[in-house]
Amino acid sequence: MAYRLNPLLGAVVEPPIAEVHGWIAGRTAGPPLIDMAQAVPRYAPPAAMTRHLQERLADPEIVRYAPIVGLPDLRAAFAAHLQGTYGGRIAAENVAVTAGCNQAFCLVMMTLAQAGDEVILPLPYYFNHQMWLDMLGVRAVHLAFRPDRGGVPDPAEAAAKIGPRTRAIVLVSPNNPTGAIYPPAAITAFQALARRHDIPLVLDETYKDFLPGDDAAHGLFADPAWPDGLVQLYSFSKAFAMAGHRVGAVTAAPALIAQLAKAMDCVAICAPRLGQEAALYGLGHLAPWVAGNRATMRERVGAVEGVFRANGSGYSLVSCGAYFAYVRHPHAGRAAKDVSRHLARDLGILTVPGSAFGPGQEDFVRFAFANVGAEAMPEMARRLAESRMA
Ligand SMILES: Cc1ncc(COP(=O)(O)O)c(C=O)c1O
Repeated sequence: MAYRLNPLLGAVVEPPIAEVHGWIAGRTAGPPLIDMAQAVPRYAPPAAMTRHLQERLADPEIVRYAPIVGLPDLRAAFAAHLQGTYGGRIAAENVAVTAGCNQAFCLVMMTLAQAGDEVILPLPYYFNHQMWLDMLGVRAVHLAFRPDRGGVPDPAEAAAKIGPRTRAIVLVSPNNPTGAIYPPAAITAFQALARRHDIPLVLDETYKDFLPGDDAAHGLFADPAWPDGLVQLYSFSKAFAMAGHRVGAVTAAPALIAQLAKAMDCVAICAPRLGQEAALYGLGHLAPWVAGNRATMRERVGAVEGVFRANGSGYSLVSCGAYFAYVRHPHAGRAAKDVSRHLARDLGILTVPGSAFGPGQEDFVRFAFANVGAEAMPEMARRLAESRMA
């Protein structure tokens, strides 16, 4: 190739899930694969949603662009949904619909930060967050992983790391990769810290529909001044099992949405329109279906906790929730990638190595169970007990 490429991209890691899938490409022998790599539900959206979308295809509008920040009905429905969940006052003008929550993060970071700025990002991070910040030339300032605090980062550490170029604090709860559910008090403490420094808390709640209890995850929206310091990110991919439709949302101050719209106009013009129709249908009709899936995931959390408690494999559970178990492997001194590759090739268990989620994660492996039923957990544990590395 005779031309040069953007060195910022060149320095970014390869997409981790693609690499993990590469380990089992062409696999024909061995026990049936237990795929605990990607955090996507295996089940399909309900047939009623599919039928609804088929009907919507007859509308000539469906192939046209939607407004940049989303269908007005969807913005209003999502605002009402959030308000129902969290209380407070959330209006359609606070919502921008995006092409998935990854794009929501990308657009928000473009809106908040420029090259040379800093963003606080706890370890272990969701790898696409780090990758995007690297591409922008924005420095991710990491907070230490705190297994001793159930995986919840320490606001005091963040306070010490905020500087003149810090533009945001990012939290993910329920967390990917750890599954940790941050207590409301911790989320509030981070929000208060961010407010003191006139920066927003960017809270990725992709997995909010898989919380174990009925209590709201936090009370931040109940504060009438929430738009001054909170940016919430959401994904419709998981709740409605529609990852391929690519729909997510940013909920924030209208002034942020107005700037973000410029970036959205350039990268996608609008989120996929049929997907927006799917999200709108889901918000209006699928609450009981989502509740059923939440119960299924809760059961899986119980099954995962049970097998790790009982098995003598040396793999120990650090934290677990939503779709994820973060596990300490027993092969001390071995790279997480080697352990994950061994699990895939020798035992037929596909996982993501901790190293994909940032520095200092070599002792850990992420198991995602959205894709694997509770009934498969004993077999998974049986195979882990056979884990021997040369
Ligand atoms: C924390 C987190 N944010 C965002 C996403 C991406 O969601 P979407 O499919 O809406 O882009 C994921 C998907 O795994 C995730 O785990």
